[in-house]
Amino acid sequence: MQTKEQVIEFSKTQTGFKPQMPTAQPEIIVKGLVKKFGDVQAVNGLNLEIYKGEMSGFLGPNGAGKTTTLSMLCGLLAPTSGSAQIAGFDIRQKPQKVKKLIGVCPQEAAVFKFLTGLENLELFGNLHNMDKQTLKERAAALVEQADFAEAAKRKTKGYSGGMMRQLNLMIALMSDPEIVFLDEPTVGMNARARRRTWQQIAALKDQGKTC
Ligand SMILES: Nc1ncnc2c1ncn2[C@@H]1O[C@H](COP(=O)(O)OP(=O)(O)O)[C@@H](O)[C@H]1O
Ligand SMILES: [Mg+2]
Repeated sequence: MQTKEQVIEFSKTQTGFKPQMPTAQPEIIVKGLVKKFGDVQAVNGLNLEIYKGEMSGFLGPNGAGKTTTLSMLCGLLAPTSGSAQIAGFDIRQKPQKVKKLIGVCPQEAAVFKFLTGLENLELFGNLHNMDKQTLKERAAALVEQADFAEAAKRKTKGYSGGMMRQLNLMIALMSDPEIVFLDEPTVGMNARARRRTWQQIAALKDQGKTC
């Protein structure tokens, strides 16, 4: 069987986050997480702990297992073995609880092509059961932050790759989630959009989000 060294590197922000309560439990705990696809070992015994408000990143070459790891943490893929807890909820036993707490920007665009950008935001807001007023305000704020007003009126079918990424990021943030998982959030974006996106992500940390 093909085996692979663990090649994901895990990095955290350099600002030296200190949890408010020294005894606080990490918000994300991963123990011995493994995923095999037949003979391919995509994730090979990953362990990590992330505290609330920390901003963390996976670094690794193509095929290192970053997307597979995120898919398991989001409840989209079942681990082969090992475990993970998010805000105290086991990802296998309480997937619905986990899904309520997280926002996800997947690597592959997950938007409805025949809806406009704004309609996509509204749809995902409704899936999160947001009340109408909050939903409207939240969508408007995200559109403004991303300088996306013109694009938001257009069907996403004609979007560029970078615009798709931008919309996916906005969808991930629609429900104002505690924990945000972003898979290659700036791929395909131009320099300005990329800088703005990193600023948006830095702002999430200031709001105490975990990402
Ligand atoms: N659904 C799948 N079926 C078979 N192999 C897969 C599948 N998803 C990912 N893999 C394999 O698992 C490994 C890790 O992939 P992935 O997590 O997408 O890497 P990364 O996101 O770090 O580029 C790769 O070898 C990839 O080919
Ligand atoms: Mg990937």
